[in-house]
Amino acid sequence: MKLDKSIAAIVTGGASGLGAASARQLAAKGVRVAIFDLQAVQGQALAAEIGGVFCEVDVTSEASVDAGLAKARAAHGIERVLVNCAGIATSRKIATRKRDSGEILMHDIASFQRTIAINLVGTFQMMAKSSVAMMTLDPLNAEGARGIMINTASVAAEDGQMGQVAYAASKGGVLAMTLPVARDLASQGIRVMTIMPGLFHTPMFDGLPEAAQKALADSVPFPSRLGKPEEYAALVQSICENDMLNGTGIRLDGAVRLGYR
Ligand SMILES: NC(=O)c1ccc[n+]([C@@H]2O[C@H](COP(=O)([O-])OP(=O)(O)OC[C@H]3O[C@@H](n4cnc5c(N)ncnc54)[C@H](O)[C@@H]3O)[C@@H](O)[C@H]2O)c1
Repeated sequence: MKLDKSIAAIVTGGASGLGAASARQLAAKGVRVAIFDLQAVQGQALAAEIGGVFCEVDVTSEASVDAGLAKARAAHGIERVLVNCAGIATSRKIATRKRDSGEILMHDIASFQRTIAINLVGTFQMMAKSSVAMMTLDPLNAEGARGIMINTASVAAEDGQMGQVAYAASKGGVLAMTLPVARDLASQGIRVMTIMPGLFHTPMFDGLPEAAQKALADSVPFPSRLGKPEEYAALVQSICENDMLNGTGIRLDGAVRLGYR
């Protein structure tokens, strides 16, 4: 797909980190970008910076997504590009024994369900809503290309660490949806791809102590540092522009393989 001002895009989680970098990258190509996020102040500021629109959306709520889609499409038309970056990181073991008291604690069901609701069901909901709208669009070329949906999983989809049961389950689900959805939509000229980032320097990481950030950066074989959000955004652009990329996940990780902990 050629990226230019005739193309509308939606980026969920677009107010921060990997989503914000993707929104900037697409806008730099002339694409009309709508940012879907819960963070209104940051989202509005970025929309103003890139000449896009901000839609305050919770990807877990159908009513909220529908309102966001109505606003984005009224401003830009139906999206041909959907980038799903909205997500949360959770960390909890399935069961733990407290060192001091010996008390045994179970992973609560509510936080597991919330992680799945945002990371997995939110991604599914956005893809489902976008695919029915993209299917109404005229093809862009003789091959019948209509659109592209890019999801964000994580290397934890393949090598989830201790404490990542909920996160890894949600991201494994995102990765597993990629091929069947690409197959569902192949006859409609809509491609589906998933990026599995390794360790990227975003606000998600800023919460960690500096020593922990350095240890994580050192664990990356080459280049031995945290990834930059612009490097993620460059892959988003490249996936949009390369029509043969479809139905698979790409690790973007500097060869890191997450260890046991
Ligand atoms: N940073 C990394 O190293 C890394 C690695 C692997 C995967 N990821 C994934 O990349 C994606 C982006 O992460 P990031 O590092 O840019 O984090 P981030 O926290 O900077 O951005 C995530 C954005 O998602 C938004 N969001 C959260 N819940 C939402 C909801 N219910 N509805 C709408 N928006 C919501 C947040 O407000 C935030 O702006 C996430 O899915 C994350 O799991 C990140």
